[in-house]
Amino acid sequence: VTIRTILDGKGALYQQIYRSIREDILSGRLKRGERLPSVRELASDFGASRMVIQDSLECLAADGFVYSSPGRGVFVSDNLDGAGPHGGSRPASARVESPLDQSALSEFAMRALSASPADAFYKRLSARAPIFDFAYWMPATTDSFRAKWVQAAAAAAKLIGASYPDPHGEPLLRQEIAKYVCRARDVFCEPEDVVVCSGAQQAFDLISRCFKGEGGAVAFEEPGYFNARRSFEANGFAIAPIGVDDKGLQTFLLDEMAPRNARLLYATPSHQMPVGGILPLERRRELLDWAERRSAYIIEDDYDGEFRFAAKYVPSLKSMDEKGRVFYVGTFSKTILPSLRLAYVVPPKQLLGAFVNAKMIIDHGASSFVQTAAALFLESGAFAQHLAAVKRIYAERRDLLIESLSARIPEARLIDSGAGLHVHLYLGEAFRGKIGPLLSALSQKSILLSDPRDYYMDPANCDSLILGYAQIHPELIDEGVAHIAAQLQMMKAAA
Ligand SMILES: Cc1ncc(COP(=O)(O)O)c(C=O)c1O
Repeated sequence: VTIRTILDGKGALYQQIYRSIREDILSGRLKRGERLPSVRELASDFGASRMVIQDSLECLAADGFVYSSPGRGVFVSDNLDGAGPHGGSRPASARVESPLDQSALSEFAMRALSASPADAFYKRLSARAPIFDFAYWMPATTDSFRAKWVQAAAAAAKLIGASYPDPHGEPLLRQEIAKYVCRARDVFCEPEDVVVCSGAQQAFDLISRCFKGEGGAVAFEEPGYFNARRSFEANGFAIAPIGVDDKGLQTFLLDEMAPRNARLLYATPSHQMPVGGILPLERRRELLDWAERRSAYIIEDDYDGEFRFAAKYVPSLKSMDEKGRVFYVGTFSKTILPSLRLAYVVPPKQLLGAFVNAKMIIDHGASSFVQTAAALFLESGAFAQHLAAVKRIYAERRDLLIESLSARIPEARLIDSGAGLHVHLYLGEAFRGKIGPLLSALSQKSILLSDPRDYYMDPANCDSLILGYAQIHPELIDEGVAHIAAQLQMMKAAA
């Protein structure tokens, strides 16, 4: 057999020899089942040591191109399907895949394909560190938090078992969550009523899967939290938008606006996302009544209910739920970190079994390691201390932001309900259709804001900004607001 000895000069010699022989195999110059020249002959052909040839042959064998038969030599594999780091053919970059045959895809995949690209969203989140960070989704951390979290994580690493987690959630974490939601949110429940999820986002998905998506609808706050909306849409639900005002969901519109097939409703009663209203008691009653009359279920997304500053305490909607109509969803994304992907759900009792089984089917349970670390963090008291510390930080930043906005942009209407980690600023109708250029101009000045248009079914209706205060350094708040005010003035003057 004569083989070619083409060294391309890229990388180590054994890699070049590997590529040269691989090319001969792929091009058919070396036939399937054919014996390669001996190591000695190859060493002489390539002008390399036997050791180098051995390394090349080992790589070819590991990638499935050749196999060695003791005492007989090295042979080209009979079956090259799937051989090689590139699937036995050319590198991925050089491959041209066949066009996608969409007829094989599920309705879910088709809807996921048409959703806005997840990559772009992630890139925006992880964009280069802005100087003025008004993002609302990133909580503050302290040195003491880091130290305590590392302690909890180290202890968890020693404690966790080798087997699969309980799909319901680690018992210790469920116990701690049950105590916490009873105390802090009046959600009176036992550890067995709590299910641990990988983020509130997974809770929305699991709840969706327990209801009829195709032909069904979900009554949804408008504007509302787009990541929840996307989950319902992907699961086949039609979205029935119900308006919100400064007090939250306009529950008096439900009878008229929510279609008969809406058996689910999503709401953020503790702090409406994004406008900020806190749902008053009468509306809470109206909402629960509506659900009971329609045999519908409410998803109460209590994503930042623990943060109250000027607002008086309002217990969760779940605490008023006598009839088992509410899925209570809480998350550690604001109280610890969103990167943990850890949330909890207290479903209506009758749906608990279906919900836990859905969790099992989808991912076999959340990571034991992360759950155990969180459980120890709560159990040790570090969580309560952390919450107290960050609340002080947020209270200061909030006051500075509100003061600065009132002084520098007095013409805008500020919605501040005294709760949560962001405020909402109505700029007025003159800014409809101009939010995109405004955000781009601000990002040039290294000012980061979440894109408020995402929260609207029709983004053209958006004429507001969402300003978070959890991340931004207090000394930068007024300067950041001054830049925003100047940009608004400039755009008004140009109009
Ligand atoms: C309204 C709302 N719900 C829930 C979440 C958190 O979701 P997750 O637990 O999936 O991080 C956020 C995050 O910012 C939110 O704005």
